[in-house]
Amino acid sequence: MGGKDTTGESVYESTNPARPGEVVARVGLADAAAFAAACRTAKEAQREWAKVPAPVRGRVIASIGRLVEANAESLARLVTREIGKPYAEALGEVREIVDTCDFFLGEGRRLYGQTVPSEMPDKNLFTFRNPVGVAAVITAGNFPVAVPSWYLVPALLCGNAVVWKPAEYAAASAEAMYRLFAASGLPDGVLNVVFADGAQTFAGLELALEEGSVHKVGFTGSSEVGRKVGELAGRHLQSACLELGGKNPMVIMPDADLDLAVEGALFSGFGTAGQRCTSLGTVIVHESVHDEFVERFARAAAAARIGDPEQDVLAGPLLDQKFADRYEEYLTWIQPHHEVVSGSTGRITEDNPRGDFDGDGGLYYHPVIVDGVRPGDRLFLEETFGPIVGVTTFSTLDEAVELANRPGYGLSSSIYTTNPKHAFRFREGISAGMVSVNNSTSGAEAHLPFGGNGKSGNGSRQSGMWVLDQFTRWQAMNWDFSGRLQKAQMDVAEIVPDLEFRI
Ligand code: UN1
Repeated sequence: MGGKDTTGESVYESTNPARPGEVVARVGLADAAAFAAACRTAKEAQREWAKVPAPVRGRVIASIGRLVEANAESLARLVTREIGKPYAEALGEVREIVDTCDFFLGEGRRLYGQTVPSEMPDKNLFTFRNPVGVAAVITAGNFPVAVPSWYLVPALLCGNAVVWKPAEYAAASAEAMYRLFAASGLPDGVLNVVFADGAQTFAGLELALEEGSVHKVGFTGSSEVGRKVGELAGRHLQSACLELGGKNPMVIMPDADLDLAVEGALFSGFGTAGQRCTSLGTVIVHESVHDEFVERFARAAAAARIGDPEQDVLAGPLLDQKFADRYEEYLTWIQPHHEVVSGSTGRITEDNPRGDFDGDGGLYYHPVIVDGVRPGDRLFLEETFGPIVGVTTFSTLDEAVELANRPGYGLSSSIYTTNPKHAFRFREGISAGMVSVNNSTSGAEAHLPFGGNGKSGNGSRQSGMWVLDQFTRWQAMNWDFSGRLQKAQMDVAEIVPDLEFRI
């Protein structure tokens, strides 16, 4: 077995949000010193791991992929039980780990450097990708296994060691994932899991950065915490890989296929109970189709199944009590000038049922569509993690792009149109790292660059070949075999042109 598991003093109970009384896992929470100790362990182990040839590390990634595939159903079931993600989506999430492994097992046989011509004879230039060292990875629990794999798989493949701090409310899923990774034969100390609360993690990270035992920080979570993590890394002259929130717009042009747009808005807004960082924030719909769209969207939301995530439902409960509390606060942002077109709001209970579903005591919430949202509203400007979607209107495409960019995030976006000119104009103007045409705002594939700009991130990208720049540093090598000292820029042959020449 590879890796190390750090346990600590205080105990955290991860519960099932569909049945909050049910404890799914109990884990010890580590303190800052334990976090820093795990980073030292990782630093120690990394040296040997980096010496393992990359193609051999690629084989380890291949084994991880196979192990995850062979355990897909049980891992997905655990994800459903722990965070309430509908089972079909949980299976898709597990599939995303396998996809990531499929991509990176081959990268073990590439991890290309270059040979580059020198400006002098008898001299060769080369570039190499070196691992950064130890990556400290802090992840959210809405994608408790897929999003961590976006960090862990390429980081390990590139020859880094990892200290992973998963979301404690997804501890059982994280523990299961860790055990699958460890079963691949990763040497001891190369992958370390630490459960800790936010404050201790931050303090531990600071200690480790000061000691020089963390060389890359990866963080997926809120813009607010991302800002602090980015600041801390910056003070140590590092740039963190930040994957933060989104206020993802969906523009609906007058030439859109409205049935398709409604289906996309429903899945983007209320699938995963609106708890993806790529979930839909605001629908920006052309004034000429506004009434029809809103009417159809409200009808689709009313007909959607919400309930037991083990069944075939659009959405299950919210992830955890703290997300439910935060979501209830977002509901207070609804103003008198807004119109809730979706019916009831708030938690689904016996007194506030959804049809014949009384919520079963779980953290289930009514999906909410708020029409009449204006650009100055909090609902328009800030991320509202959970099942709430705003609607506003526009008259020209330029105005739609302006509105789509106004909140200052830049993770994902979508446009529904049948006119290619509109699609490309939108792509050019939108600040988001991901643009969908006639598709949901969510649903990135594992081999395309993923990441945001503005409040959604610092421009770092995960997935595919692009993430290699997060987990490796380029090294330039020059080798002079002329037998003398050739000075760059000085001992360079010159070919003299006749620049006065004219035809
Ligand atoms: C996230 O919510 O942090 O594109 C990531 C998507 C998923 C990833 C979401 N593949 O919606």
